[in-house]
Parts: sequence; structure tokens; C-alpha cells
Amino acid sequence: MTLFPFEGPLSIGPAPQAVEAQAVDPVPVVRLPSGEAARLATRYDDVRLVLGDPALSRALCTASIVPGAMSPDALTNMDPPRHTRLRRLVSKAFTARRVEALQPRVELIVDELLDDMVIKGAPADLVECLANPMPAMVICELLGIPLHERDPLYAWVRAATHVNAEELDHATTEASTYLLDLIGRKRRSPGDDLLTALVSVRDNGDQLTEPELLMTMLSLFGAGQETTASQLSKSVWVLGHHPDQWDRLVLDPGLVPQAVEELLRYVGLGHAAFPRLVSADIELSGIPVHKGETIFPVLTVANRDPVVFPDPDRFDVTRVDAGLHLSFGRGIHFCLGAPLARLELRVALTALVTLFPALRLVDPGPAPDWNTTSVACGLKSLPVAW
Ligand code: HEM
Repeated sequence: MTLFPFEGPLSIGPAPQAVEAQAVDPVPVVRLPSGEAARLATRYDDVRLVLGDPALSRALCTASIVPGAMSPDALTNMDPPRHTRLRRLVSKAFTARRVEALQPRVELIVDELLDDMVIKGAPADLVECLANPMPAMVICELLGIPLHERDPLYAWVRAATHVNAEELDHATTEASTYLLDLIGRKRRSPGDDLLTALVSVRDNGDQLTEPELLMTMLSLFGAGQETTASQLSKSVWVLGHHPDQWDRLVLDPGLVPQAVEELLRYVGLGHAAFPRLVSADIELSGIPVHKGETIFPVLTVANRDPVVFPDPDRFDVTRVDAGLHLSFGRGIHFCLGAPLARLELRVALTALVTLFPALRLVDPGPAPDWNTTSVACGLKSLPVAW
């Protein structure tokens, strides 16, 4: 039985084994590192169904390919009605308006980071200068975490993505102690930030409990950084390998929002979305999948399904159907941070094409410098010159 995640080098798009499965065996049975068997959904329509069907449960699913413990109290691991209630409360505070209002701050953060990059001089590492620090600074800004206080939360993110239960317990205690103190401070002196909004949000008399507040803050802090950092550095790598597409953006930066969607389609974030446990028999591509089976929706390969995206391996910043990608998921677990991630990617890419029109990769080899410990399959470094 094939091992999943697939063996072999990482790739910007889907693994070759996933592409082959999509064509000939679209719901293959695979073996997970734990030894358990699971199935993959590889075709666009099947992945959509798996992400959107209430007959598939996150809460009952114990399989995982991501190291670290799975908290049943995280939004992403819940089913309705628990999920519905918590997501409604969090969404009342984490609104589109709050994200839009952040735009000037994101622009300032990007400008400052790029100014520093210029001072350091070319060649510079774009991962270190922009892709990693930008989302980290933005999430602190959004949540209302003073930058110089973020260390206990970082330690928690590091521990949560590595298999070491003891270290994770310790880091969770430290991060929780810090957050409880911060929550107390926000109660005493409210700020114009998401934590203050989460502390005071009410929905028909309902409100977030202290443990829910803690877990929501940790989830947003954890989910909001490596994802965007990985997507941004890989986007620049892809553009560096498609100079004609880069030039189109330089000539018309108004194309950046469309390019961001094509980059989300073209670039794979992790090996798969979270797995689901099938709680009632279903059919995928005519193949019966039975109650009790685990299924991983493989977003990267769904985003290259030729049935939906003609000539799927062609990277084209003007592709009209790019927005149909499933990179933010679908259904009740659709990425809560999608508007923020889009804003950050648009601001960063707009700044790069306008301020560094001659930007190029210093080492345009066939494979990027992968960070193999990153759950979002990010890059370790990306040397650029301009
Ligand atoms: C390019 C960047 C990002 C990508 C590609 C991405 C992708 C995803 C995907 C695919 C899911 C659904 C997973 C599933 O159903 O199995 C998800 C959920 C989620 N994302 Fe993101 N994400 C990104 C950035 C962010 C940011 C910036 C935040 C927060 C500030 C965030 C917070 C969340 C949360 C809280 C969930 C769980 C939602 C729920 O279960 O109801 N993400 N994300």
C-alpha cells in the first residue's frame, strides 16, 4: 500500500503520485505513518464533496499526518452544533471590516520590511526579510499581542508542530498563562483589536468561555503565520520561474488580486486538508466509501483537475477560473483567515512588483530550498536580487 504523505521530493504543485491517482484510481487507499489505512480524494468534485458533506466528521476523526496533539477544542476539529456556535461567535468579532481596516498597517509593515531589505542589500533572503516576519507581525497586530510579548506563543506553535507531548504540555501552560494575563489586561483597558472584540462578543446572550477564548487565540496565532509565509515565498519562487508572468504584473499591478488566486491554485500548501471520518456510506467517483473509513481531501491535485481547469499545469496570472480553487477549503470549515491571507498576499506582491520590477531569483534552480519540518511545506530561504 502506498505511503501517504507520498515519498519523494516535495513539489510546488501536487505530488506525481497524486496526479496519477486522479487519472486512474481517484480514491486510492494509502497507509499513514501511523500504520493506519486511509483514502485520498483527488478529483475536484470529490474533494468538494468531502469538504462540504455533513456525513463526514472532523470531531470523530483521529487520523493525522500533522505532528502534535489535536485539541478537540480547536474550531477545525469540531462538528456542528459545537462548531456552528463557536464559529458564529468568532466570526462576529473577526469581521471583513476588521480585516479591511488592517490594510494600512499591513502596507506599513511590508514597506518597513522591504526598506530594511534594501538597506541590507542584494542578495537578500526574501523568507527572512519578508515572508516570515510579515504574517507574524500582522497576526500580532490583529490579535492585539504586543510584538515583544509573543515568545510564549511562538514556543507553543513550535511545540504544537513537533511530536513531544511533554514539551507541548509545558508550552501550552506557558502560552495559556500569558494569554489569561493578556485577556485580563484587555478587560481592564480595551483596545481596538480582535482579542478585545472576542472578549466582549455576544450572540443572543451567548459568549465565549475562557477556554474557548484561549483556544481561539492559539488557533488564530498558529494558523495565521506559516500558511501565509509559505504561500508568499512559494508564490515569488513561481513568479521567478515565469518571468513573462512577472512582467505582466509589473506592467499592470492591477492584475495582482487575480494573480494571487492563480498562485493559490497553482501552489500547494500542505499535503492535504484535515482528514474526515466517513460517518455514513458515500460514493466518490462512483467508488463506495464506507462508514468508518478516513478520507484526506488532497487540495493541490484537485486544483489541477483538468475537468475544471483547462491545461491545469499552465501558470497564467490572467486565468479567469483560478478563483474556483479549493485552497481555502470549502463548507463549514472554510478558512476563517482567507480575507486576511488574501490581503497580506496582495499587499506584499503589489509592493514587490512596484518597488522591485527587476526582482529575480539568485538561484533559479529546478527546486526551491524546502523547509522540510514545515507543516505548510514552506521554504527555508529564497535568495533574491533586484
Ligand atoms: C495562504 C494562507 C492560508 C491558507 C492556504 C489556508 C488554508 C486553510 C484551509 C484549507 C482550511 C480548511 C481546512 C479543512 O477544512 O480541512 C483552513 C481553515 C482555517 N484557517 Fe486558514 N489558511 C490560510 C491562512 C489563514 C490565516 C491567515 C488564518 C488566521 C488569521 C487562518 C485561520 C484558519 C482557521 C481558524 C481555520 C479553521 C476554520 C474552521 O474550522 O471553521 N488561515 N485554512
